[in-house]
Amino acid sequence: MITIALDGPAASGKGTLARRLAAKYGLHHLDTGLTYRAVAKALLDKGLPLDDEVLAEREAGALDLAALDRKVLSVHGVGEAASRVAVMPGVRRALVEKQRAFASRPPGAILDGRDIGTVVCPDAPVKLYVTASAAVRAERRWKEIVSQGGEAEYAQILADVERRDARDIGRADSPLRPAEDAHLLDTSEMDIETAFQTACVYIDAALGH
Ligand code: C5P
Repeated sequence: MITIALDGPAASGKGTLARRLAAKYGLHHLDTGLTYRAVAKALLDKGLPLDDEVLAEREAGALDLAALDRKVLSVHGVGEAASRVAVMPGVRRALVEKQRAFASRPPGAILDGRDIGTVVCPDAPVKLYVTASAAVRAERRWKEIVSQGGEAEYAQILADVERRDARDIGRADSPLRPAEDAHLLDTSEMDIETAFQTACVYIDAALGH
């Protein structure tokens, strides 16, 4: 059993990295951002407010991890809404419980998010913190949207990324920050392949390879 905790801000490349690592090591993978996104989307779909903790906690408690639809939840606006429900301790408590249950399934799992190394799986033997400058992350997100035929303005995306960072770093419950024992991977200059190879070195060392 091994647990890998992978944290970092929006559009840092952690999702791509997590999927590749999960495939290489044969681990379950959970993108915990999708769990917060699903709660926000459920509220939006029902026309309910995003700032009512009782309603949001109820959606979080009812969430089925097996039913998370990445395609539907990846929409840019849902990420913004997710960071609003993610400040609520009741929502976090309900989702963290499900995330921990997921992490305990053999043969092990990689979870990516904001608080995996600090709160969800503080005993994970491998913790990675992936980051990049806000400008680099906004550019990646912008290219992704445009390449899928969508329309986006770079300045708007950058402003969104910065607002989301501020909310994730500044919240009282489980703010975004690297765990003390996390390995830092800055992908501003490093490409995804180099980040992947570097992560593999840390994981292999933990596995005793
Ligand atoms: O990673 P992603 O952009 O999908 O996350 C959406 C939002 O969910 C984040 O901005 C953050 O507020 C919240 N989140 C969180 N804790 C996690 C994962 C995501 O608070 N472990």
